[in-house]
Amino acid sequence: MSKLGNRLFNWYDSHSTFLPFKKQLAVIEKSSLNKSLSVMKKKVDEMSIGEMHEYAKINTKKELMEWIDNGAETEYTVHRNRMMLDEILLMPKSINTVEIASTETDLFDKTYDMPIFIAPMGRMGWISKYGETSFGIASQQMNIPLFVSEKSTYPIETIKKKSSADIIWMRYYDSGNDVQNFIKSIERIKKIKGSGFGITVDAQLSTKVKFRRLYNYATEDLKNRAIDMNKIKKIVSSSDLPVIIKGILNPLDAKEALESGVSAIIVSNHGGRNLDYSPSSIEMLPEIVKVVNGKIPVLFDSGVRYGTDVLKAISIGASGVLVGRPACWALIAGEVNGVKRMLYTLQDELKRAMILTGKKDLKSLKDMEKVHLLPSEINFL
Ligand SMILES: Cc1cc2nc3c(=O)[nH]c(=O)nc-3n(C[C@H](O)[C@H](O)[C@H](O)COP(=O)(O)O)c2cc1C
Repeated sequence: MSKLGNRLFNWYDSHSTFLPFKKQLAVIEKSSLNKSLSVMKKKVDEMSIGEMHEYAKINTKKELMEWIDNGAETEYTVHRNRMMLDEILLMPKSINTVEIASTETDLFDKTYDMPIFIAPMGRMGWISKYGETSFGIASQQMNIPLFVSEKSTYPIETIKKKSSADIIWMRYYDSGNDVQNFIKSIERIKKIKGSGFGITVDAQLSTKVKFRRLYNYATEDLKNRAIDMNKIKKIVSSSDLPVIIKGILNPLDAKEALESGVSAIIVSNHGGRNLDYSPSSIEMLPEIVKVVNGKIPVLFDSGVRYGTDVLKAISIGASGVLVGRPACWALIAGEVNGVKRMLYTLQDELKRAMILTGKKDLKSLKDMEKVHLLPSEINFL
């Protein structure tokens, strides 16, 4: 190629929108191939969370990746979870004395190193050899509790044995399970000195993830797993462990959960995997925090990808956040080390955001003047 041709090619390469469509595609393919190759060469403790996602996409069967990443039907709620977190701005406070930010947090009378926990996710053995045991070791080493799904590949006893993590066991309610069955589960989690017991209430039906090919939905029964307030009350009164309800979006549900005597609730739309067009978790968080009025901890999930998301949720009133899909990508990218790297990255980003907004600890995030600006308040600027 002539010198001019070469110069033009380089210019086109960096201004690819000016290229004819076919050439644009070639440039995109070339650059994503380069990106993929560079991700493959990296060690997990050098990867960003985005790179872990890239790595997972290259190394995981398409059907499994869709099972992890996709959401229900149009996936509007998956996108809204991110959109509404993105809408919230953070006000910097540059003249301040904060040099070190502490992310220490309390939950059920224990102090943990950060308010960032791994969400309960079933069947992690489908995507990694060690599955939830890797989550357990990473959580124990990072001093955070671990939420384990009843659908986990490894039983809670094995996870505890391999990791000695503080386990909170999350079950679904099935119309087939009576309250007695739950009481047996409480005994099981008590036996391994677990930290809590929970019920996920927003998945009365199995998740309907877009393009999900692992189940044939045409033949699956519509299993009803509805749970009412009386059953929750009975479970709470038979448990001396904290009982947590996950999957609250509606403030009326928050009120009923509170009246049932639960010890914490998790504001969540299951990462947009169940009811499409439900509101994002973050837009319901302020209302739910108001209903709960400080009586029990309110945890938050769905869409958390950055430390700034954690800061936004805590500043609105959450006591901690759970991360789902990023934990799957991290597990695929590097088992225990991948998960630790993912948690460390979020903690580091949270600390940076705290310093830049002048907050030295999580308590001052709630007590002092708020740092987050909701979309309706932007005219304040
Ligand atoms: C692969 C996968 C499996 C999941 N399995 C469960 C489960 O068994 N029980 C449950 O309560 N939530 C389950 N969830 C939902 C998560 O606990 C969490 O609410 C959600 O992933 C948070 O959204 P995020 O992925 O955007 O962080 C699952 C999520 C994913 C991605």
